[in-house]
Amino acid sequence: HELQLNIEQIEKGGYDHFMMKEIYEQPSVIKDTYRGRLLADQGLIHLGGLEDYIPKFLNADRIIIIACGTSWHAGLVAEYVFEDLTRIPVEVEYASEFRYRNPIITEKDVVIAISQSGETADTLAAIKLAKEKGAFVYGICNVVGSSISRETHSGTYTHAGPEIGVASTKAFTTQITVLTMIALKLAKTKGTISKRDYMLYLHELELIPTRVEEALKSNEKIKEIAEVFKNASNFLYLGRGCNFPVALEGALKLKEISYIHAEGYPAAEMKHGPIALIDENMPVVVIAINSDHYDKVVSNIQEIKSRKGIIIAVVTEGDTAVTEMADYVMVVPKTPEMLTPLVTTIPLQLLSYHIAVLLDRNVDQPRNLAKSVTVE
Ligand code: G6P
Repeated sequence: HELQLNIEQIEKGGYDHFMMKEIYEQPSVIKDTYRGRLLADQGLIHLGGLEDYIPKFLNADRIIIIACGTSWHAGLVAEYVFEDLTRIPVEVEYASEFRYRNPIITEKDVVIAISQSGETADTLAAIKLAKEKGAFVYGICNVVGSSISRETHSGTYTHAGPEIGVASTKAFTTQITVLTMIALKLAKTKGTISKRDYMLYLHELELIPTRVEEALKSNEKIKEIAEVFKNASNFLYLGRGCNFPVALEGALKLKEISYIHAEGYPAAEMKHGPIALIDENMPVVVIAINSDHYDKVVSNIQEIKSRKGIIIAVVTEGDTAVTEMADYVMVVPKTPEMLTPLVTTIPLQLLSYHIAVLLDRNVDQPRNLAKSVTVE
């Protein structure tokens, strides 16, 4: 028994929990994910599983992304990236909803299935259905040789290494990394991205591990924020554009491991409902990074402040306007807006982690949850 404990200690690499280890692994696993596939200096992206199927993607009427849980959130981020860069229409579906509703799908559709474990029953069943209807199915999995990786026509592995914590962290950021590389490759081939932007994104993607390392430096500060809010009974998470899915993911992380109720919302939808919840007890986590939506987010924050809500803002280094208004800030480094989900996710992972630890929750194995859901 003692030996067993020691092995687990070693596996956790000096961290108290697998989740924290996996959060801190992100700079290195993101690098593993693009290593040998992204050569920024030469302007090259090479994904073995993709090369032969590029025409399939470029001739597709649309791309349908199917997934569950955190992987579904990565799919939502990808919708912004793919549509912006490739101009191919994208739909993102919960695998469970997709498979049970007699979906319209043809040989002209490309389906991307995203799954960390590669074993999620609903995703697997949705893949089988899409294949029956003649669609080409591309998989993005972490576990090599998993059922989904075998069932799909082709695909790309994330190379995040084993993810033990039930709450997904490094799988999410590496999925986004792969999806972004695919979108960039398609856009380059299709000619929907300028040479200049293409080179810029390649270089910025290569810098993401350094940016994530920067974002991780806020850990101590985030721990203090967690201490302040650990007894809150509800949290609201807001974001716009490609950071709307990050808000959903932030809320999911908090629910999963701390058991505190949290909801993610597109910031502009706040006025259609969630604003009714705001009072002096309601912490609102707002992703308020420098972006095309910055001014809009600033006015959302004003609306919350005027109703005495408490703002915990994720801001870009050097930010002033939001920083002055917010009660607490978590700073992330600057990166092009399309890549920001890879950095804005980090403080939200840390916030949920610290709250869960302070509440003495079973961080790596939260109640009622399973790492891979093989039941339908
Ligand atoms: C479970 C896990 C989640 C995960 C989801 C989808 O609910 O607890 O962390 O996001 O399944 O799993 P997959 O392996 O398909 O990405």
